[in-house]
Parts: sequence; structure tokens; C-alpha cells
Amino acid sequence: MTEYTADLVLRGGTVVTGNARFCADVAIKDGLIAAVGAPGTMPAATAVVDVTGKWVLPGAIDVHVHFREPGYTHKEDWGTGSAAAAMGGTTTVFEMPNTHPPTRSAAELRAKQDAARKSHVDFGLYGLLAEDNLEELEGLVAAGANAFKCFMGNTFGNLPSPSTGAMLEAFEILAKHGLRISLHAEEFSIMARRTQRLAEAGRNAPLDHLKARPAIVAVEAVGRAAALAEWTGARVHVLHISSAAELRPLAEAKARGVDITGETCPCYLLLNSGDYERLGSVIRVNPPVREASDSEAIWHALRNGLVDMIATDHAPHTPEEKTQAVIWQADCGFPGVETQMPLMLTEVSKGRLTIEDYARISAEAPARSFGLWPMKGRIAPGAHADIAVVDPTRREVVRASALHSRGRVTPFEGHEITGVPIHTLVRGRFVQRDRQLVAESKGWGRQVTDIQRMPPAQPVNADLGINVLAPRPRKDAA
Ligand code: DOR
Ligand code: ZN
Repeated sequence: MTEYTADLVLRGGTVVTGNARFCADVAIKDGLIAAVGAPGTMPAATAVVDVTGKWVLPGAIDVHVHFREPGYTHKEDWGTGSAAAAMGGTTTVFEMPNTHPPTRSAAELRAKQDAARKSHVDFGLYGLLAEDNLEELEGLVAAGANAFKCFMGNTFGNLPSPSTGAMLEAFEILAKHGLRISLHAEEFSIMARRTQRLAEAGRNAPLDHLKARPAIVAVEAVGRAAALAEWTGARVHVLHISSAAELRPLAEAKARGVDITGETCPCYLLLNSGDYERLGSVIRVNPPVREASDSEAIWHALRNGLVDMIATDHAPHTPEEKTQAVIWQADCGFPGVETQMPLMLTEVSKGRLTIEDYARISAEAPARSFGLWPMKGRIAPGAHADIAVVDPTRREVVRASALHSRGRVTPFEGHEITGVPIHTLVRGRFVQRDRQLVAESKGWGRQVTDIQRMPPAQPVNADLGINVLAPRPRKDAA
């Protein structure tokens, strides 16, 4: 065995993977995990941190955040957004393109890369897939886009939804590159008509937002996008799953072998229609928070793997933007990247999810889906030392005023939590230590392009004369 001195050893903790937990020390050298082994068997180290009684988790990978820069920096910027991630145990984020200007060309992607230079955590960047930028897609890929975002329905930024024809052509282009296309899967025209009818009838209460976006909008969009993905071989990802009904087209697409993954967010698991009155316009988010029966179905799907992962749709807005008497005027969404881990750990403490399930849905599954595996998403030799050390018994209360995001309006104000990340490491470096942001880690974050592996997708396309009805082996999840 080669002799070396580790930079850091985390001693005495419980290492968690997607299917096991065990007492082990973790040695870190040059930003990588050098060894994971029985307590006391690690090499000499420059520093040792005792984490006895703590969980050593792979840092969360949140494939759905809005950091607002450029264009809406009064809501958030890369410094504040990534600080919130670091405080929340999240070590990699994928950032959305509905900034101003939107990230729809190589030049705009480069501007976003510039803004992201202040990031505390590692990051991927989304390029926009729109009706009018098909010629820009190759350039976005070449400039380093890590994934694409398609707004099938309208939301903050009011980016027009592409036609099915444009989506098909974009999917054909992107399938060649293998990069995943994340879908805001809500069908535009149903929502536009319902919203208009409700508004014309003078309906403007918080619950009318839910009425304007019945789950059929997601059923239609997931089914249509899955059909296009199957036809072209493109890889797709369903963002913010909010309804029981859309689980069916998702399950059917997976059964057909479509390379499709799905995420949900804490608000769809922990809030329901009974919370609209209490929270007022603060609860407005796209897609909307639905019924308790929807939450139950999504919990079930998260445990059995149909819904692959947890993300946050971190979407900060100012108090004025969030609190409006007329629901149609309140901005949609709320910050989430700092509260996701404590909220979900609290559910682990209640027995609703195992800690191994949590490692799978927060780190392993997103790493696999977005091509970061095996360098991220796991605690094993050779991987990036991206780690959240968690105190599973620590109790706190969510206070918006204590969040690091600039947009501090959260529907989880006052929520009691059990389980808090007390240290966060990105490639071996503390970005959060003892519940304090490490200010000097600003700028440490790096784009994941060099480690991302997304090989060209396999076309299964009838245009190529392949019989789409012939049985195909299911994709191996490993
Ligand atoms: O509520 C939302 N807010 N849903 C989205 O899809 C976008 C987000 C935002 O950017 O504010
Ligand atoms: Zn979003």
C-alpha cells in the first residue's frame, strides 16, 4: 500500500450509502475520498475531525435551483444562492435558464458561467430549449451546457412554451449529445384558458391557483414528452412531480424503456390543499401544491423508486412579490435549497423514509441521472469528497430570517426539524463548518462539465426503420 498523509480524516461517523450504513472513518486527499474503512485504520492525516454519532452522507445534488443571476439579483444571486446550498448540505446544484436574459445561446451561457464564478458549491448549468433557439442548441452544448430545460407550461419569466414540433426537433438534436432534457411538464393551453376563465369570473383566492392547473396538465405533458423521448432516444427528466395522476404516464414510460427520471420537491410531500388558507399567496408555486392523497402517492413512489429523486425548485422572491391580495399577481415559488435536507431528515426521524433511501434520492439518483456518477453522489474511494455531516438528533425551527437566500419567504416558517447538516464539504474543502458559512469558500465551486459522462443516447426512432414494437431490454439502472 502506498504511504500518504491524508488532508483530513472524518473519524467515528456512520457512513450512509443508498443501501447500507456502517461505522467508518473517511480519509480525504486532494479533494477526493482516499479511503473508507474501519475506525482507526486510516493513514496519518494533517487534520482529524471527530464526527462520532453523526451521519456522513454524500452531499445532496439538487438538479433544480433558480439562482436568478443575471437579471433578477434582487431575488438571489450566485453568492447567496450557493451559500444557502452550502448551509443546507447541498454540494452540487443545476441552475435553471429562466434568468434575464434567459440562457438560450452560447454567449448567454458564458455570461452565466461568469456569474457562477462566485459559487460556494459545484454546479451544472441548464441551457434553454425554446421554439426559437434550435440553431443555438449545438452551440450551447459546445459552450458547456450540462442539461436542457423545456418549459411546456408557463411560469416565472413567462418564457413561451415550444410547440410539439419544435420539441421533437430539439429532442432529435440533443439525443445525439446524450444530455438530459428537464421538463416543466404542465400543458400550456389548458392552464391559460382556465386561468383566464377564473380571473374573468373574479376568482382570485389562493386556491384558485390550484383550480387553474388541474393534474391533467401534467398527465398530458408527461405523456407527450415521454412519447417524443421514446421516438428520438432523448433522455428526459420530469421536474417537480406534484400529482398522483402523472405517476401513471411516468411508470408507463419507464416500463417501455424510455430513459426518463423524475423528481419531487418537499412542498409536494409536506403541504397540501389544507394549507392554502393558512399560507395565503406564499404557497403559490408551479405546479401547485395539491391534495393529501397526491402527497401520499408521491411518498409511495419515492420509496419504491418510481420517483427517482428529491430536488427543490429553489425559487426565491421578495416578500412584496410573494404577498399579494390577488393570487394571479403573486410570484410563484419559494426558496428550498437550504431547508430540503433538514425537512427530509425530519421525515427520516419519523420513520417515513430510511436514511439509506435519503442518500439514494438526494445524491445517488441525481448523480446517475445527470452523468455525475461515479465521481459524485457516493462516499467511496476515488469520488469527489462532497460530504454532508449530519447531526441526526439536532432540533431546530425553520426561520426565514435565518436563511442565507436573499428571498426569505418560505411556507415552512416555524416548521420543527430534527436532523441538521453541521458540516458541508465540497471536494474536500469545508464550505460550511459548525453551522457557519465558510466565507472564503466563495468561488470554490466548479462547473461539473469535466466529470460529466452522458454518452450519446440510443435512438429508437421509427424514422430510422427500427420496429418500435419490437421488445427492447429495459435500461439497466446500475
Ligand atoms: O413556482 C415556480 N417558480 N415554478 C417554476 O417552475 C419556476 C419558478 C421560478 O423561477 O420562480
Ligand atoms: Zn423551477
